[in-house]
Amino acid sequence: MAACGDAAMISPPPPAPKGIIRARGVSKRFGDRMAVDGLDLDVPAGCCFGLLGPNGAGKTTTLRMLYGVTRPTSGRIEVFGLDVATHSRTVRARLGVTLQESVLIEALTPVENLMVFGRYHLMRDAELRPRIDELIDFLQLGSHRDVPVRNLSGGFKRRLAVALSLVARPQLLILDEPTTGLDPAVRLALWTKVRELRDHGTTVLVTTHYMDEAERLCDRVAIMAAGAVLVEGEPRELISRLLARDTVEIEASEQEAAQLLSGYEESTNRMQAGNRAVVHLEDAAALVSHIRGRDSVADRRLIVRPTNLEDVFLHLTGMTLEASA
Ligand SMILES: Nc1ncnc2c1ncn2[C@@H]1O[C@H](COP(=O)(O)OP(=O)(O)O)[C@@H](O)[C@H]1O
Ligand SMILES: [Mg+2]
Repeated sequence: MAACGDAAMISPPPPAPKGIIRARGVSKRFGDRMAVDGLDLDVPAGCCFGLLGPNGAGKTTTLRMLYGVTRPTSGRIEVFGLDVATHSRTVRARLGVTLQESVLIEALTPVENLMVFGRYHLMRDAELRPRIDELIDFLQLGSHRDVPVRNLSGGFKRRLAVALSLVARPQLLILDEPTTGLDPAVRLALWTKVRELRDHGTTVLVTTHYMDEAERLCDRVAIMAAGAVLVEGEPRELISRLLARDTVEIEASEQEAAQLLSGYEESTNRMQAGNRAVVHLEDAAALVSHIRGRDSVADRRLIVRPTNLEDVFLHLTGMTLEASA
């Protein structure tokens, strides 16, 4: 990508078939708890796909079933067109995974960790060494390539974990909450790398509860809650289909808001959150001038912003995502 001059350093994986992941009616029961409950999912090749949902929604369990370490209680999953139940080894060899729990060896340096991981994947040194240099450059780990992992910051560790999952040039990269707990600048830098990988042909499936990032960085998202996909699509398309382009927040009780909005013709989707009315509509400007006409202090009470995926999540579940995550 133009934003980052080193994008060309990462060489592409072999071409992948069109639909990378296809899950139908997938459920996973733990005792009497349904962690995943009748999940359908289609991830097209070459996209950055976000699986969104609060803690306990079933994201990690879904990922574990996709790469064959957890068996579904029922349903069918195909990855690269192969049934994961019968081809889990082949599937796993072609995908890279970065889990929430770290797999890094603390006493070893980044380069040594990458060597161990590459050899585990039966890569020869002649192939592995240039690949490691490439990944160290790509994930900007050069300044710390020889520092033991135990002395690295959280951001470096997370980037190294991503580097490990890329050693064997996977066609599909699965990242479970890669940016949770990182500060915003480091989060953004990691997302930039994820997009660069996508631009060079790797399909990426990423879970997150950071809705703002998902909206900007994912081509498609599926919003999960209680083990099922509630809705799936391109972020902007979902927002306009389920709510509307603009949002106006009005500091007002339900009664005051009803007065301010009375006589306003355009259809709106409105909800009350404490002392704040939240109105979703296609054209905020018209509503703002309507309210200004009725309230001399309107500007102090109004926030006008684009509708976002957090609003969609709230609309679908009645929950806020950050609060529940
Ligand atoms: N190995 C397990 N044994 C029992 N319950 C589990 C296990 N793994 C996950 N769960 C439960 O399944 C639900 C979904 O968990 P998880 O997939 O980790 O959600 P998420 O990644 O979206 O936070 C949670 O209620 C969790 O407690
Ligand atoms: Mg999880």
